[in-house]
Amino acid sequence: MSVKKILLSGIQPSGRVHIGNYFGAMKQFVDLQDTYESYIIIVDLHALTSTQNPEELRQNIIDLAIDYLAVGLDPKKITLYKQSDVPQVTELAWIFECITTMPYLSRAHAFKDAQTQEKEVNVGTFNYPMLMAADILIQDTDIVPVGQDQKQHVEISRDTAEKFNRTFGETFKIPEPYILPSVQTFPGTDGQKMSKSYGNTIGLFASDKEIKEAVMKIPTDSKSVDEPKNPETDNVFALHRFFTAGPEFDELRDRYEAGGIGYQESKEILVRNINRFIAPLRESRGKLEKNMKMVLEVLREGGKQASKRAEEKMSEVRKRIGITLP
Ligand code: TYM
Repeated sequence: MSVKKILLSGIQPSGRVHIGNYFGAMKQFVDLQDTYESYIIIVDLHALTSTQNPEELRQNIIDLAIDYLAVGLDPKKITLYKQSDVPQVTELAWIFECITTMPYLSRAHAFKDAQTQEKEVNVGTFNYPMLMAADILIQDTDIVPVGQDQKQHVEISRDTAEKFNRTFGETFKIPEPYILPSVQTFPGTDGQKMSKSYGNTIGLFASDKEIKEAVMKIPTDSKSVDEPKNPETDNVFALHRFFTAGPEFDELRDRYEAGGIGYQESKEILVRNINRFIAPLRESRGKLEKNMKMVLEVLREGGKQASKRAEEKMSEVRKRIGITLP
């Protein structure tokens, strides 16, 4: 019997992952994979709320599987799977939907954001937190490493577990969000939260050229080379915090404060350092791309394991709610 606590998290296969996904979430999955029994998901059914192109979805799923492995998740240590290979989560999501009220879910940020975009909001987007609660609770999760933007979703999972337990008896563990203060909201190239929908991302596997293009368009103020600059408010410096280390970082800060460095030079240093960080990731991704058989096998195996555990939980849930006959 494992004595390790359970870690679970997921990413939507809705386009290429960026360095915000990495620092906000993926890095923690890698750093914690020895300490926790870990379940890492490609949440393909969640992505269906926004991607309705089968070719694109299929490719995004495969890309995300490779991305997870390329950053160092070890399939011998973790269970990596595709959400749709665990159909029990959609069953559990329905059950949660029946014990949750509409006004409660209407307060979810993601739904409110979708509503303000004046698009017609699909029911999947509205129910999104219920499917996420099912992902988390079905595996008896202790901690959920995520960025700050997912905190409310984890809180909804906690509330849902408590509501179910109150209604039907102790069944679900109450999960804790795991959010590192230093990376809770990773900055985009425009200083807002890095997000695909803001067009301010740097791809986690970006090419030299893409990194350069993204960094060179970072907006700065118009201070000359000699003028002192405030590292706290500069968008370029905000990224140096993650890619420039040790004495080089201290020197950079001193030169910002004293004057004597221009934004152009600061950007060039940043491009070099991001590239130094990304180059080995690109390389390991390239190798994995040539080993698709292994990648698909990891997903299949992970799906089987996760589904087996989920089925055990569901048989308990079905009894609790009264749909299992003697
Ligand atoms: P998603 O796919 O939007 O994002 C994946 C992870 O990346 C984090 N993240 C960030 N962290 C810090 N700064 C940023 N700028 C930034 N941008 C993204 C997100 O917080 C997230 O941790 N609903 C989830 C997927 C999901 C899930 C789950 C997560 C479904 N089921 C169960 C945990 C457990 C989502 O859409 O993440």
